[in-house]
Amino acid sequence: MTNQHGRDDVAGENIVTVFGATGFLGRRIVSRLLDKAVDVRAASRHPHKNILDNTSGRRPSQQIAADILDPSSIAAAVAGSRAVVNTVSLYVERGELTFERVHVQAAADLATASRDAGVERFVHISGIGSNPKSSSDYIRARGRGEEAVKAAFPGALIVRSAVMAGPDDGFVTTIARLVRLLPIYPLFGDGGTRLQPVHVEDVAEAVSRLASGQIATDASTFECAGPRIYSYREIVREIAAQLRAPSRLVPLPFAVWSILATAAELLPAVSLTRNQVELMRRDNVAASGLPGLEELGIRPRCIEEVVHMIGHDD
Ligand SMILES: NC(=O)c1ccc[n+]([C@@H]2O[C@H](COP(=O)([O-])OP(=O)(O)OC[C@H]3O[C@@H](n4cnc5c(N)ncnc54)[C@H](OP(=O)(O)O)[C@@H]3O)[C@@H](O)[C@H]2O)c1
Repeated sequence: MTNQHGRDDVAGENIVTVFGATGFLGRRIVSRLLDKAVDVRAASRHPHKNILDNTSGRRPSQQIAADILDPSSIAAAVAGSRAVVNTVSLYVERGELTFERVHVQAAADLATASRDAGVERFVHISGIGSNPKSSSDYIRARGRGEEAVKAAFPGALIVRSAVMAGPDDGFVTTIARLVRLLPIYPLFGDGGTRLQPVHVEDVAEAVSRLASGQIATDASTFECAGPRIYSYREIVREIAAQLRAPSRLVPLPFAVWSILATAAELLPAVSLTRNQVELMRRDNVAASGLPGLEELGIRPRCIEEVVHMIGHDD
């Protein structure tokens, strides 16, 4: 099969397969890889989704249907790849679709299939704060997932991200929408949780540099975080000020949020999850001593840029 760069895909010259390619981060990773003239195989369960801006005329070399829970589908998806990226998410557990199943077992299955297929580089996306011993099911699964991937694919690269901001994110955009809508804005707890939001384009660039082999590194774990640490209260206050929305911030205990999230998860369109509430209880900032964006040659951008874009979109 000849791809859009006129090379033979089957030979696997330089194919990077991205699992989760239709997602918030995955789409940008695909775009950044294409910028580097890398052949991209975009894998997800819904391959008909538009990944890239229609007007750009760019498209992945291949866009395929693949389910990370199905071993035969992942073996076919990684065949002939030089590198594989796992940016599949699961934020809400439903029945057999658990954090353990997706973030540990399926991640390890994908890493094993990649190793067996002779893939050179495996990049696994995780989250800052991942901890195999955490009392939170989600954070524990992320930590155990990292361990399982490293055991299955020696030399796997782990990229832990802080909460990501981008024009279509679920963080800054949600806060921006709510501060404009609500005269009284309920904070998570007293709003003191410390966060270090990172621009999604910076994380995508970091992942694409690692997956394309542009950066040679001895490090195995990277933490991508933004240039500034804020309290949640500060973020809300700054977004409200930038959008000139006179919202009054009031503390709301985490116990109340947990009840609201339990109810929200029963709705068809989930707007708040227990997992989100659980994550907001803990500081989420980069650990000192681990390499991050700077070590990958990327100057982290401020999230104010995202707020500015949102403000000018309406
Ligand atoms: N967003 C953040 O602020 C943030 C912060 C820290 C870490 N992270 C991590 O970054 C990664 C990407 O997050 P995101 O926010 O970009 O997620 P997202 O927007 O929800 O995208 C997830 C992607 O995974 C695909 N997917 C889900 N289940 C799949 C399955 N069974 N088989 C194949 N593909 C599947 C989805 O496509 P289909 O539905 O079409 O299959 C989609 O392309 C995740 O590991 C997440 O935990 C995110």
